Amino acid sequence: MISMTINGKVVKAEKGEMLLKVTRREGIDIPALCHHDAVEPFGGCRLCMVEITKADWDGWKNYVTACLYPAEDGLIIQTHSAKVNELRKGVLDLLAARCPNSPEIRELAAEYGVPQTTLEEVPDADNCIMCGLCTRVCERLGFKAISTVGRGHSKQVAPPLNEAPPDCVGCISCAQVCPTNVIPYKDINGKRTIWEKQFELIACKECGKHTITTDFADALCERRAIPRDYFDVCDDCRRKELSLKMGSIVAWSREGTS
Ligand code: SF4
Ligand code: SF4
Ligand code: FES
Repeated sequence: MISMTINGKVVKAEKGEMLLKVTRREGIDIPALCHHDAVEPFGGCRLCMVEITKADWDGWKNYVTACLYPAEDGLIIQTHSAKVNELRKGVLDLLAARCPNSPEIRELAAEYGVPQTTLEEVPDADNCIMCGLCTRVCERLGFKAISTVGRGHSKQVAPPLNEAPPDCVGCISCAQVCPTNVIPYKDINGKRTIWEKQFELIACKECGKHTITTDFADALCERRAIPRDYFDVCDDCRRKELSLKMGSIVAWSREGTS
């Protein structure tokens, strides 16, 4: 274990764990739009920037991305100093110009003193901040169905050739991690549509609730050796079934001892 000081408080941390993890454990709110615990840190959005120094650095300070900077003994960290807030404000001004119609970006930008971008707004903006979380999560799951295409302002996340991606299984993980909610999907009448591709949803044998797509279930069975009938019942019904079983075991064991 090592010891660091964050906003004046001495905290313990594992050597090498990322500063963002430590600050989150301490309940400190640092914006981190390109970070998700399910994937490796990327350092793309620059919003998690914090100020670091050490007692023997003679007052010298550095500004590092907390998602990518490992904990070191003796670090003194400021997560919301005037300079840090100014840096975040600059980044949010850029993001607000890139995504002028994103409520998530507008709210965060206003929190850091940017109620309106001072820059020229990107025309026909699609609210994607190019954080890459969607493509990284998809890749992490082993599908690689979508990628970043184009350059400059025309850069976007898309399936190959802008057609329904053959490798997509409709798990919607990409949509769920997107910090600006720009990946649309629909679940209607037992069918899911995402990336212009349609999937069948599995209905729970017990309650009829729709769960995951058949394609995702097939992929999980193949890759993780899960029996296919595991997906016949939803998690809620499985828990109910288990608690009923546990109840009968308890009743049976009581009968046996009385
Ligand atoms: S829905 Fe498709 S593109 Fe999105 S993470 Fe799942 S497999 Fe990848
Ligand atoms: S679509 Fe969402 S998750 Fe993907 S790069 Fe854009 S903002 Fe990030
Ligand atoms: S969360 Fe650290 S750079 Fe985006």
